[in-house]
Amino acid sequence: MLGVMTVRDDKIGQLSRLTATLVGVLGRDHVLTDPDLTASYTVDWTGRWRGQAAVVARPASTAEVVAVLQACLAFQVAVVPQGGNTGLVGGGVPADHGSGPDDLRLVMSLVRLGRLDPVDAAAAQVTVGAGVTLAALQRHVAASSTGLAFGVDLGARDSATVGGMVATNAGGIHFVRHGGMRQQVAGLEVVLADGQVIERLRGPAKDNTGYDVPGLLVGSEGTLGIVTAARLRLVAALPFRVTALIGVAGTAAAIELVTALRRHVPALEAAEIFYQEGLELVCRTAGLVSPLGSPLAGRWRAYLLVECAGADDTVTDQLAQCLATAGVDDEATAVATTPKGRQNLWAIREGHTEAVNRLGVPHKLDVSLPLGALASFVPAVHQAVAGAASDATVVLWGHAGDGNLHVNVVGPAPDDYTVDDAVYRLVAEMGGSISAEHGIGRAKIPWLHLTRSGADIGAMRAIKQALDPTGRLNPGVLLPPEELLG
Ligand code: FAD
Ligand code: MLT
Ligand code: ZN
Repeated sequence: MLGVMTVRDDKIGQLSRLTATLVGVLGRDHVLTDPDLTASYTVDWTGRWRGQAAVVARPASTAEVVAVLQACLAFQVAVVPQGGNTGLVGGGVPADHGSGPDDLRLVMSLVRLGRLDPVDAAAAQVTVGAGVTLAALQRHVAASSTGLAFGVDLGARDSATVGGMVATNAGGIHFVRHGGMRQQVAGLEVVLADGQVIERLRGPAKDNTGYDVPGLLVGSEGTLGIVTAARLRLVAALPFRVTALIGVAGTAAAIELVTALRRHVPALEAAEIFYQEGLELVCRTAGLVSPLGSPLAGRWRAYLLVECAGADDTVTDQLAQCLATAGVDDEATAVATTPKGRQNLWAIREGHTEAVNRLGVPHKLDVSLPLGALASFVPAVHQAVAGAASDATVVLWGHAGDGNLHVNVVGPAPDDYTVDDAVYRLVAEMGGSISAEHGIGRAKIPWLHLTRSGADIGAMRAIKQALDPTGRLNPGVLLPPEELLG
């Protein structure tokens, strides 16, 4: 019985026995130890976060996840859960091995957990495996012809998995209407650190029996358990969509318009912001053309990408009416209602992540501010970055409807935290959050105390201690080491 085995071997012996055990469970093809094969699992999407994995294990069922976890417990190996590896805070890639006998790390890739249950039209819910990508989930629900859709969408849809999105409590472009992953999760199947399985996939929609244990896993970033399946709420699929790119004078004008849209356009589904320099960068690097003319002409400092969705084209009238009342010029607006036209507008917004990565390894600082503070935050953050790294390139964009800005800084070395520190301190001073939707990961631990009290962090640590007393799950992610606690 693996769970009671005690291992006192050296690392090589430990590793070869672990590998043999895993091969027995998963088969040779799904236990990777060759550095050429494990390499892509040990570096993140941005290239800022990298480390070492002794083994990559690829279980395909809940029972296999249990077996892998029990082997890791027995051989005292840390487990780094990984989905699509699109996370942007280093939470899904291992750090370097430590020097101690129990410091080996195993990446548990969950992408083979591909369960797709039929859509439950009566409940407006669906159960899917943790390894299902967002795009596959969207296709599955659309193909069910139930008139339902999934409420969360984001640019990494082709790779990001349901398990990763649950674990990061992902937000995305429709948050302004439907909220993020926390609002969509009706239940989870979770393998706890000791191999026990909690299954909350079948219960009635209304159930207030005790603690919401699966709910704790949402946003836990792989530190409390492995999500193996999710029961997800669905929303009404809205067949008519209108998308508009709107040039505005700056952040204050953008927020004024977003406030009006939120108040007067119930069909509002996305309200995204980006700036002249981001638009110019995306157009230059991706060969796109802005329908509002050259971004360098300098007419508009900021741009909103707004989408409304409804049963029919009355949503276009709602949007047009609101824009007219707000005094937005026709020539400041490009509108699309066809799939191709809308896709062209979205390509400009969604091209930002890739375009910035091409400039160098970015410091990706995902923050949120109270909406009323956003206009003064923007010049202040440019000043803060200039003070910390005068040669840095700063590109801002984000989800304006949620007060969520992505501050991207290219120039400082990946392990230079001066800019990160300056930005997070500014955010905290202005009443914001250091993590809006990407999570804490390895990237933000030193600043957790800026927006979470000692009591708050202590409660999180108590939960971690209760569910993962040996600290096998994703060590070095989310929670600060004890000595950082004030
Ligand atoms: P991974 O990156 O593999 O892992 C992320 C975290 O979840 C890690 O801590 C990992 O340990 C943990 N984890 C993964 N799977 C499991 C599991 N089954 N059980 C337990 N823990 C697990 N994010 C947004 O919120 N909004 C956006 O709009 C958005 N857009 C993006 C656009 C691009 C182009 C890119 C590259 C990223 C974007 N992201 C966005 C970030 C990223 O897509 C999300 O954080 C996503 O939720 C990560 O999913 P993943 O499967 O790739 O997880
Ligand atoms: C986005 O909104 O573009 C994503 O969160 C990804 C990013 O910040 O690069
Ligand atoms: Zn985002």
